[in-house]
Amino acid sequence: MPGGLRIAVLKERAVGETRVAASAETVKKFTALGATVAVETGAGASASIADADYAAAGAQLGSAAEVVSGADIVLCVQGPEPDLLKGTAKAAWIVGSLAPFSERARIDAYAAAGFEALAMEWMPRITRAQSMDVLSSQSNLAGYLAVIASAGAYGRAFPMMMTAAGTVSAARVFVMGVGVAGLQAIATARRLGAIVSATDVRSATREQILSLGAKPVFVENVAGIEGEGAGGYATEMSPEYQKAQAELVSSHIAKQDIVITTALIPGKAAPRLVTDAQIASMKPGSVIFDLAAASGGNVEGSVADKVAERHGVSIIAYANPPAHLAADASALYARNLFNFLSAFWDKEAGKPVLDAEIGDAVRLTLGGKVVNGRLLG
Ligand code: NAI
Repeated sequence: MPGGLRIAVLKERAVGETRVAASAETVKKFTALGATVAVETGAGASASIADADYAAAGAQLGSAAEVVSGADIVLCVQGPEPDLLKGTAKAAWIVGSLAPFSERARIDAYAAAGFEALAMEWMPRITRAQSMDVLSSQSNLAGYLAVIASAGAYGRAFPMMMTAAGTVSAARVFVMGVGVAGLQAIATARRLGAIVSATDVRSATREQILSLGAKPVFVENVAGIEGEGAGGYATEMSPEYQKAQAELVSSHIAKQDIVITTALIPGKAAPRLVTDAQIASMKPGSVIFDLAAASGGNVEGSVADKVAERHGVSIIAYANPPAHLAADASALYARNLFNFLSAFWDKEAGKPVLDAEIGDAVRLTLGGKVVNGRLLG
């Protein structure tokens, strides 16, 4: 293919979005596959990647219109406005975290413009797709960040310290929701010397909690304890289970200094796990970090991008946690996109050709139409 496949990387325009969809490393790797990569000037600035680094890796730098011109694939973190995509090649791929449900109007516009939109958050959770999984890579960093931010806001130390002036006792950290983010939160809090406990609705997490040196806090003897649905995700629990969980959590939470909540149910609002009455039972100076804020929040009174004070407890929530670790989040995200596209690279065609298992899961639009069953439902 003359000049090779053209890949465009735009500067993110969403408020608070600091990440970028390509790193110097992935530019180099795409170039080695025979593609031409064009990066918008300043695209990496908020993720600490200089234009000169992209240029040294082989990228062409230019304005948004210049990089998009003739592009076969546009890489993004969040989906760009369709107006920004004028001048791409016909049926160009838009590859990123496209938020198919909450940005439905934009997806329809991509369809109308003839784009093939590929939503990375709908990557199937199968072994061979692990290295392409943007939810995992970003959740991992979010779990770490929640602990670090909570430690920063906590007016006491995490580890037990014996000093000449007296002993400082270890912080008690409770992690609610033990998926990718929760596991990293447990590991990080343990590294900082806290006494850690954790809960989840999926009973498979009990062993994982123990293996990280934390204490499992689980509802026992209530129907629906498995809590595991399709693809290893949680399901919504029965009212009976929810009541038992609330009672268990109430007695436990009052003794905690830090609570990190990460609970999500795909396609649904985040479950409410911590009520105002439970917050009132905590000691003043305690900190809660609600990692589910963007999906409606696990904690009553949490407000995205604000520190809410309730009953002397600080409730922290970020709308976009990985954007607070832009350099690492971008590096991992960029690698996820490279791993995805390179896994399907067809040498003869000089471009990726997706298979049905992964292609059908992530593809939202094709040939002028919305084609994904989850959006057609
Ligand atoms: P998630 O972000 O959807 O949810 C976070 C956690 O909250 C989950 O562990 C969930 O069980 C829990 N939760 C939901 N409702 C709850 C409630 N009411 N109370 C307490 N906890 C609640 O989950 P994430 O991090 O995306 O991981 C889900 C599963 O997928 C895990 O088993 C993970 O190991 C697996 N996975 C598999 C991958 C692959 O094979 N490619 C890649 C990434 C994750």
